[in-house]
Amino acid sequence: MQISAAVPLMFLSVILCSLRAAAVQELRHPPNRIAVVGAGIGGTSAAYFLRQKFGNHVQIDIIEKGEVGGRLSTVEMEGNHYEAGGAVIHPLNLHMKTFVKELGLSPRHLDAGLLGIYNGEEFVFQQSEWLLINLFKMIWNYGLNFLRMYMWVEDMLDKFMRIYRYQTFDYSFSTTESLLHAMGGDDFTARLNVTIDETLQKSGFSQKFIDDIVAPAMRVNYGQDAKVNGFVGAVSLAGCDSGLWAVEGGNKLVCSGLLYASKAQLVKGTVTSIEEKVRPTKSGTTVSLYEVKYETDKGPILDMYDIVVIAAPLIKEINNIKFLNFDPPIEAVSKPYHQTVATFVHGRINASFFGCPKPCQFSVSEILTTNEPTLFINSIGSVSPVKPVTESVISKASDIKVWKVFSPEPLTDEHLRLLFESYHAVIVRNWMAYPKYTPPEKMPPIILHRGIYYLNSIEMAASAMEMSAISAKNIALLSYHRWYGKDGQIDQENLVERLKSEL
Ligand SMILES: Cc1cc2nc3c(=O)[nH]c(=O)nc-3n(C[C@H](O)[C@H](O)[C@H](O)COP(=O)(O)OP(=O)(O)OC[C@H]3O[C@@H](n4cnc5c(N)ncnc54)[C@H](O)[C@@H]3O)c2cc1C
Ligand SMILES: *[C@@H]1O[C@H](CO)[C@@H](O)[C@H](O)[C@H]1NC(C)=O
Ligand SMILES: *[C@@H]1O[C@H](CO)[C@@H](O)[C@H](O)[C@H]1NC(C)=O
Repeated sequence: MQISAAVPLMFLSVILCSLRAAAVQELRHPPNRIAVVGAGIGGTSAAYFLRQKFGNHVQIDIIEKGEVGGRLSTVEMEGNHYEAGGAVIHPLNLHMKTFVKELGLSPRHLDAGLLGIYNGEEFVFQQSEWLLINLFKMIWNYGLNFLRMYMWVEDMLDKFMRIYRYQTFDYSFSTTESLLHAMGGDDFTARLNVTIDETLQKSGFSQKFIDDIVAPAMRVNYGQDAKVNGFVGAVSLAGCDSGLWAVEGGNKLVCSGLLYASKAQLVKGTVTSIEEKVRPTKSGTTVSLYEVKYETDKGPILDMYDIVVIAAPLIKEINNIKFLNFDPPIEAVSKPYHQTVATFVHGRINASFFGCPKPCQFSVSEILTTNEPTLFINSIGSVSPVKPVTESVISKASDIKVWKVFSPEPLTDEHLRLLFESYHAVIVRNWMAYPKYTPPEKMPPIILHRGIYYLNSIEMAASAMEMSAISAKNIALLSYHRWYGKDGQIDQENLVERLKSEL
């Protein structure tokens, strides 16, 4: 008797439970509208991945105050275009690679010119055209440091590449720390707290190698020295690998391509504030939405969204989005950014400035610098246009080239007269380029509120096109899983082990 009563009761509760589960699933309608703030590579790839996840019915608006592309941008000089911001892509940057392929764009392979590293007086390191001479010099001056560096970067990349597998299997992460931890464990997260200098010293690299080779790589890629955090430091060293590439016609074409492919609507405007609004629904419940306010040519506009992705750095100096009436309050969350000035000069470089008195065979075309306080440049390198030009346009043998100079401050006329024997065209682009990296580094949150996500949190670990794309995919997955309550796809431990069985 007792048993027979218990069985139907159990059944009933099972049925009730599954009914409730079904009801929750059904109640959770898809979002109606998603706003993405910023149409750089982060924002446009976010729109692309959000479309893949949420399907065709959601309206996606990308609100952009400037140009599509953001920090991917070209300058025009004498009819040719050159990359002025993010320029170089690593061969293992799989999201960038896939975008280019799917959008029907072409890669442009960057052939590295001969490298010299200048310390303010002379070259501490100079590549020759002869491979054997280079090898001999590397070993003579730095022992096995170069070889070990190569292996060290390989090891880092192996771990880094795990993220693509996690994302393929729909796994997402709610903080930048947990994303990095899933890639490379404690080793990766610990790197946020120490400088690349310390990281490499601990791994047994010589101080001379760090000063002569590593610091210059940090200066050219991030405008800062070997005191940057160990994670961005490693990313920067990977940026010295071979096989680097860019997008033919300009890297920003990826952004406009993704924008188009995502079927998102581009809205011209500057977002000024975001506020949560609770609204009644027809069924008598309430729904909470985000009211996004943005300034346009025609005045301010208010729009309501279910989800907001902020794909621009939230720093007081350059982006004053106000989060109104949130409790606890949401503040501008990133640390200050670092200024880098890119100056394009068409002219003849002054070899004697680089310690090579006339007449001088000056064959290097990429000059990096050591951390020498008197130097007013971080690097100078000859650049080629984003589209191949016909031979007749460039005088091939000539030593008159277009040079790109990176410096922390704008160059004065006096600086230019020192760097160049003669020049006839100058174009300057001033960037708030990437974070000022000062470990120990605390990552800003990715989840700013229930439905507000911060894509550029990841930049505080390392700023690069691919990092923004990885963060974009992560946020598309994360916001989807949170919307539908699929907690099993968020912040899972031991993914390496778990995915071993799934092929
Ligand atoms: C000089 C330089 C060299 C670099 N070199 C490389 C490199 O070789 N390789 C590499 O991988 N990376 C490089 N980087 C870094 C790379 O460019 C960035 O990490 C990447 O482009 C960031 O993209 P994002 O979309 O996240 O941000 P952004 O490109 O900054 O996009 C943010 C967008 O949001 C818009 N916006 C901001 N606030 C608002 C608002 N309130 N309302 C509406 N719109 C707003 C901005 O106008 C901008 O278009 C370099 C950067 C610089 C500056
Ligand atoms: C890094 O430093 C922060 C404090 O700045 C600390 O909270 C965190 O636990 C440290 N992380 C590691 C892995 O040491
Ligand atoms: C070139 O560099 C040398 C050495 O710094 C400097 O004396 C000279 O004025 C520079 N300019 C030209 C045009 O040679």
